[in-house]
Amino acid sequence: MNQLSIIVSSTRPNRIGHKVTQWVSEQASREQWEVRILDLGEINLPFFDEEDMPKNGNYAKPHTQAWASAIFESDAVLVVTPQYNRSYPAPIKNAIDYLFAEWDSKPIGLVGYGWSGASDACADLAKVLTHVKADVVGGLGLSFPEQLTIDGSVVDAEGAASTELRDLLDTLHSKVLDLDGVAAQS
Ligand SMILES: Cc1cc2nc3c(=O)[nH]c(=O)nc-3n(C[C@H](O)[C@H](O)[C@H](O)COP(=O)(O)O)c2cc1C
Repeated sequence: MNQLSIIVSSTRPNRIGHKVTQWVSEQASREQWEVRILDLGEINLPFFDEEDMPKNGNYAKPHTQAWASAIFESDAVLVVTPQYNRSYPAPIKNAIDYLFAEWDSKPIGLVGYGWSGASDACADLAKVLTHVKADVVGGLGLSFPEQLTIDGSVVDAEGAASTELRDLLDTLHSKVLDLDGVAAQS
């Protein structure tokens, strides 16, 4: 089975990010994925504190090495992010900045949530992840109050959000298969 890591980007004590992640995780587990949750609230990376540039891959700190291994071992990644002040929360930027090579060609999907489906957060995140050469395959946005209650329950009576998520997971899976094919030929 391919490994899908789901990054929980919000870290505040009362966050609903873990509930949205639970919804994503349940669907991914029902499909072809072995799911691993990378909760930035638990991982608790300090503000970027490496001496060398991430491009050199010369990670000295144990927390950087652990974070690099988690991303390197992931076949694909889903970033679950709220929108904070028309962008994404700071911990996910910090987590991205720590690494470089590990993001290269990594298939990544985005699941945003907020008043406008976190469209600004997802657009900004896609720009940053593309800069570090990740392969951002797409995303979906859950909007208050139509698709998500304020306390974090996904409202999906029509099944539209589940269909979007399934399509995103399928696209990620295709990308992983493509990468496996390239690796087998080289
Ligand atoms: C600091 C802060 C800024 C926010 N700014 C926005 C915003 O610009 N747009 C939006 O749709 N929601 C905004 N919200 C509302 C969040 O989308 C909502 O609180 C959501 O539950 C946050 O995710 P979390 O519970 O996982 O932290 C903001 C919330 C916080 C805490």
